Amino acid sequence: MTARKLDGTAIGRAIKEEVKKEVEALAESGIRPGLAAVLVGDNPGSRVYVNSKVKTCAELGLYSRKIELPGETTTAQLLELINSLNGDESIDGILVQLPLPNAIDTNAVLEAVRPEKDVDGFHPVNVGRLVRGQACLEPCTPAGIMEMLRRSGLPISGKRAVVVGRSDIVGKPMAFMLLHRHATVTICHSRTKDLPGVCREADILIAAIGRTAMITGDFVKPGAVVIDVGMNKAETREEAERIFGPDEARLAEIGKKGYTLVGDVEPRTVAPIAGYLSPVPGGVGPLTIAMLMSNTVKAARLRRRLA
Ligand code: GUN
Repeated sequence: MTARKLDGTAIGRAIKEEVKKEVEALAESGIRPGLAAVLVGDNPGSRVYVNSKVKTCAELGLYSRKIELPGETTTAQLLELINSLNGDESIDGILVQLPLPNAIDTNAVLEAVRPEKDVDGFHPVNVGRLVRGQACLEPCTPAGIMEMLRRSGLPISGKRAVVVGRSDIVGKPMAFMLLHRHATVTICHSRTKDLPGVCREADILIAAIGRTAMITGDFVKPGAVVIDVGMNKAETREEAERIFGPDEARLAEIGKKGYTLVGDVEPRTVAPIAGYLSPVPGGVGPLTIAMLMSNTVKAARLRRRLA
């Protein structure tokens, strides 16, 4: 047996279609949801993400503004920009791409974003509301994973969920979202004792550690739902063969681009055991952007008290 694929590209497309229809309906009332995407410095990964967010806005009919600032920008300058976006009527969502350069006070920046415009769900007000189970703007990646589970008809209530990774962006909010849907949740991290044993208890296993192919078959209970949030690179044929087995497309990609994208899960050993597996690429990634678009429309409605 091999795991069924959780197709994030198809699910992301369906969500984006729904968002596009909402944007069209709002346009009839003269409303155009708008997103400001702020990129500081020249992290190449961040640039790719921001460009892709702005491009998706255009595809769905949202207004977007990309603001690029040099790496030497100060915290004070960034706070001033956010302040002006907070008061800008054409902007419903403000996204500051992370990580910010070391010299910038990230907490001060995230706290400066008006919670009503915080489409990343990183402001302490939204984090607090999420923890309490109140309505809020939710972080996009875990929200996308919840949509993936829901739209795939995979039940959560009463299941054992193990989240590997305790980041503010994925691990922690993911754990609370699963808890609110009545899963029994364990959060693991680098100091967890017997990590494979804990993971093997999971009916739903979320891999969000940021370590290439760390979750191997011996971490997985037969039939489990495995969600791979990792985004790493394999750069040699030997590494790719160890992770994927004899996958010609992957090897060809390395020959052409110099790398192939790899998650935190090792498909060669996990796919024969898991019941469902989200691939990398084409799993969680497309859902993050789809949920950002959905959050921007939600913020536009909330700010106008449209429910
Ligand atoms: N960096 C990595 N993931 C994210 C995200 O979801 N939003 C922002 N703003 N930055 C990120």
